[in-house]
Amino acid sequence: MDLPGSGKGTITKQVGEKLGLINIDTGATFRAVTLAMLKQNIKATETEKIEELLENISIELRKEENEQKVFLNGEDVSLQIREKPVNDFVSKVSTLKIVRDKLLKLQRKIAEGKNVIMEGRDIGTTVFPNANVKIYLDATPEERARRRVLQNNEKGIKTTYEEVLENVKTRDKIDSSREIAPLKKAEDAIYIDSTNMSILEVVEKICKIIEEHRKEEKD
Ligand code: DC
Repeated sequence: MDLPGSGKGTITKQVGEKLGLINIDTGATFRAVTLAMLKQNIKATETEKIEELLENISIELRKEENEQKVFLNGEDVSLQIREKPVNDFVSKVSTLKIVRDKLLKLQRKIAEGKNVIMEGRDIGTTVFPNANVKIYLDATPEERARRRVLQNNEKGIKTTYEEVLENVKTRDKIDSSREIAPLKKAEDAIYIDSTNMSILEVVEKICKIIEEHRKEEKD
């Protein structure tokens, strides 16, 4: 599942809970690396420093009190990774080959031997090209920005609609045009446009798709 504000975070969480799948947010891993670089003042061009940082980094996704938490070197950074400095830099960081190589390994390792529901821009094309079910979840940039602002308000993060819309559009552009593992629909992914759908409708639709797939596998 793909675009920011497409509802993928909320939806994967709910589908995961209904169907007993472990929810993995791969964007959070890119955000954690970005935050680590910002903390150490490392630029995207400083390859050696990034290599060193990646050698020693620890990123954990843990569920605590029914909340998905992100830990960077043992510190809970779940809120920090959603703030503006990270939003503005994360797409740039995600174009870097060394970062993608490291996180690809980490993402595959986290999912190893488990039944997972994984969200991110290159899951169906690169991370798990043989996934059992692939969904490409879409929505207009305006609707996605509207949802992001609401979500940020709930988390106590202050943002304006204009600022978020601008960020959504810029990130789409960078994410879809990058050379390695760009954001695109896998050929065999099922396309869902959630612009005019409620969260519940999308969740039900996806659960149905997965359940049908499970049934087919049994038969
Ligand atoms: O889903 P998100 O907005 O939290 O993702 C943050 C950024 O991470 C996004 O702009 C691009 C990058 N990303 C990626 O390149 N590949 C993924 N599988 C997930 C995220």
